[in-house]
Amino acid sequence: MKKLISLILTVTMALTLLVGCQSTATTTTTKAGDATAAATTAAAAAATTAAAADGSIQVGVVLPTKDEPRWIQDQEKFEAILTDAGFTNQVMFSQGSSDTEKKNVETLITKGIKVLVICANDASAAAATVEAAKDAGITVICYDRLITGTDAVDYYVTFDSITVGAEMGKYLVDNATGTGNSLYLYAGAATDNNAFLFFQGAWEVLQPKIADGTFVIRNSAEAVAVQDTLELTRDQIATIIGQITTDWDMSVAKSKAEANLTAAAAADKGDCFILAPNDGTARSIADVFAADPDVTSYLITGQDAEISSVQYVIDGKQSMTVFKDTRTLASDAVAMAVSILGGETPATDAAYNNGTVDVPSKQTSVVVVTKDNVQSALIDSGYYDATEFTGLG
Ligand code: GAL
Repeated sequence: MKKLISLILTVTMALTLLVGCQSTATTTTTKAGDATAAATTAAAAAATTAAAADGSIQVGVVLPTKDEPRWIQDQEKFEAILTDAGFTNQVMFSQGSSDTEKKNVETLITKGIKVLVICANDASAAAATVEAAKDAGITVICYDRLITGTDAVDYYVTFDSITVGAEMGKYLVDNATGTGNSLYLYAGAATDNNAFLFFQGAWEVLQPKIADGTFVIRNSAEAVAVQDTLELTRDQIATIIGQITTDWDMSVAKSKAEANLTAAAAADKGDCFILAPNDGTARSIADVFAADPDVTSYLITGQDAEISSVQYVIDGKQSMTVFKDTRTLASDAVAMAVSILGGETPATDAAYNNGTVDVPSKQTSVVVVTKDNVQSALIDSGYYDATEFTGLG
């Protein structure tokens, strides 16, 4: 069966056809200021003035939850960048509820938004919600998480999620020697398409090292059942995620890690290599492994460069995090909104299939952060202030 979700990197030729002669300047934004610059186009300025006159909101942003620092960072970046760019805007949170998400979108529709930027709580449940927005003439941009099973998604702004997972897998592989190392696998929420991409990316790096005996999977019979298969189907990944999901929830992650270590024999612990899907769950799982006397050492992945996890990395309690610069993602989304409000077609550089259509996408790269480059990647880049941390340098 054809893979439901497949990443199609658009070849140069197709990209040229898609964006025509449009300048690539708005697609190569790496700093918030670039989006502000993009907003100065005459067309966008005209749109701004028109909306300001009738008091409506131009750009609505809906984010999944306030309970993970990651999304608060996105909120701050959106409000700053959109306001600087002269756009009326409103950011709303769904608090892990697809119903709240739907109500938020309905509220924004009544406020007259022209562009909806949405990071869905649940990839398939959000389809009906964005269909309502589309019916109201709104352009829909999926932010970070792709909404599946609908043609009501116009664009997708994302980090390179396969690479996020691949970097996690690579970190574990690069730091493993010998054979028989204990591998513990954890994943994000099954309702989040990204959880599939992260796992797929990690699996394709880890699997050859499972096959050659470097790693032995200790906590997932479902993963063991397919350990000779490099390219898993979406259904196979779904089955594994069903067993190792954290739901993106720190307490679920903690309970699952505790249950795994309780079930494991002492010999199945030792030097442990842990695939943790994001920073919050990584801290929870790391604490559980650190407390187990049969765990001799552990290495653990993460993503998002949350402040608490960066401190864990500095302290040697989390091995790495994949830094996803929310300034870039938010500015890419704003640059897209600016193009749309100005009547232009936004530039894209990839396409993601959501099960129904290929969604034109703008993809951003990620940076692996370990103890060695916290300073250059996160402090020198201006993302965080050094005073947020102790023991730096
Ligand atoms: C993903 C997102 C990650 C992480 C996770 C948990 O969709 O890409 O960066 O934040 O959700 O919320």
